[in-house]
Amino acid sequence: MNPLYSLFNPEGIAVVGASREPTKIGHLVLKNLLEYGYKGRVYPVNPSATEILGLQCYPAVSTISGRVDVVVVSVPNVKTLEIIDDAGKAGAKHAVVITSGFKEVGNVELENELVRRARRYGMRVLGPNIFGYVYTPARINATFGPRDVIPGNVAFITQSGALGIALMGSTILEGIGISSIVSIGNKADIDDADLLEFFDEDPNTSVILIYMEGVNDGRRFVDVASRVSLRKPIIVIKSGRTEAGARAAASHTGSLAGNVALYETAFRQSGVLSVKSVEEAFDFVKTLSWNPVPEGERVVVITNGGGAGVQASDTLADDGVFLEKPPEDLATEVKKFVPSFASLANPIDLTGMAPEDWYYRSIRLALANPAVDAVLILYCHTALTSPMGVARAVAKALEEVGQRKPISVAIIGGAEAYEAIRYLTNLKIPAYPTPERAAHALAAQIRYRRYREYLVKRATAA
Ligand code: COA
Repeated sequence: MNPLYSLFNPEGIAVVGASREPTKIGHLVLKNLLEYGYKGRVYPVNPSATEILGLQCYPAVSTISGRVDVVVVSVPNVKTLEIIDDAGKAGAKHAVVITSGFKEVGNVELENELVRRARRYGMRVLGPNIFGYVYTPARINATFGPRDVIPGNVAFITQSGALGIALMGSTILEGIGISSIVSIGNKADIDDADLLEFFDEDPNTSVILIYMEGVNDGRRFVDVASRVSLRKPIIVIKSGRTEAGARAAASHTGSLAGNVALYETAFRQSGVLSVKSVEEAFDFVKTLSWNPVPEGERVVVITNGGGAGVQASDTLADDGVFLEKPPEDLATEVKKFVPSFASLANPIDLTGMAPEDWYYRSIRLALANPAVDAVLILYCHTALTSPMGVARAVAKALEEVGQRKPISVAIIGGAEAYEAIRYLTNLKIPAYPTPERAAHALAAQIRYRRYREYLVKRATAA
């Protein structure tokens, strides 16, 4: 069994430093744990309190009679070593250390001692300097971030705390379903590679997103990521790409951001999809977690606007995906219901007159055609057709054919377009406000497919 199994599936969690004060971190973590619905036992630990949030409070972990697998630590740094000793002796397996004031401010010795002590008891340390972790299958939200994370299949590992907390909120807004969010902060012990190994085996996770400032053991990361990428896409937002960014990372989590080119090469070799921005990462997460992996690279673009089609074609080409003529039988079928001046090359331009029914019929035909591997749909809002009508047409066609192919949708326009995007998002159909973003997110799936093929070949050759 993976050594982190009991971190994500604990029988009991103790919150050490569970404050009586509603605005303190220890109190908020306890509240999130209870309100998000963790089914195991929760034990507040605070020597100055008898009861917190309706639960009996314990003076120390060692005084709890039930089994405690995880100890969440939210007391000042000077007290952390005694907590580790107490929890370790009590048989806890994992310390989730929220406390700051370690390597990131030069307190290297304290951080090293924390890990040394934990190891003495066979305990693993998550953090320090973190906002906690979430694992939705066990209804664990041991963070002081937002509570109502949407359950889903994306695991998110973040080295940045505050940004990670904010992104937790963004996943809710963006409709991205989460299996886990893990704040890893200073990575004194548990690091990206350890978590990748856990998520590789985790049946609840199918895509892994990492916000990374730096890795401690590059060789191990490449080895593990290469194995995991064979089964699950890994997306990395690597920050500290510039000299200014690298300086900021060093003072943030004490990480050495390192040489950009080295990281990029390592990512490519291990099949990792490297992205520059949070927006790009979330865009990729949607196609990669909601769509199946494409069987091939034959993309058909369906649009009602030539310009949108050109922009999408350019973006795809920039990403190394080149459009070929659509299959002849598809063009012949579409020709039956579009005007004579419609272009039936690729992009298939249904013309500015296109009503939602033309979208429905052409998408249905493209999805059902065996010579099409993925479909990109672009709709520029005109007075003739409502964005919601087109969104419904997309959903209907997908439902009738059964989603066996990747799809990406751009609905370009104003407020009504956003409403239609939201509608599709709720159905887990990747939808974006621009042709470039929709095309780029679809191309990410093809990039992943290529990486995977390369990794399979490399593994078989070895
Ligand atoms: N065991 C258990 N609880 C203890 C304790 C012990 N040995 N000693 C003290 N406590 C209690 C305190 O009495 C207090 O409870 P109370 O408010 O009911 O009196 C509670 O633990 C918290 O201790 P306190 O000294 O008030 O600390 P704090 O809550 O102000 O700060 C941290 C603790 C961990 C939040 C703070 O030190 C810290 O590191 N903050 C930064 C966290 C952060 O940003 N992390 C990275 C996020 S991205």
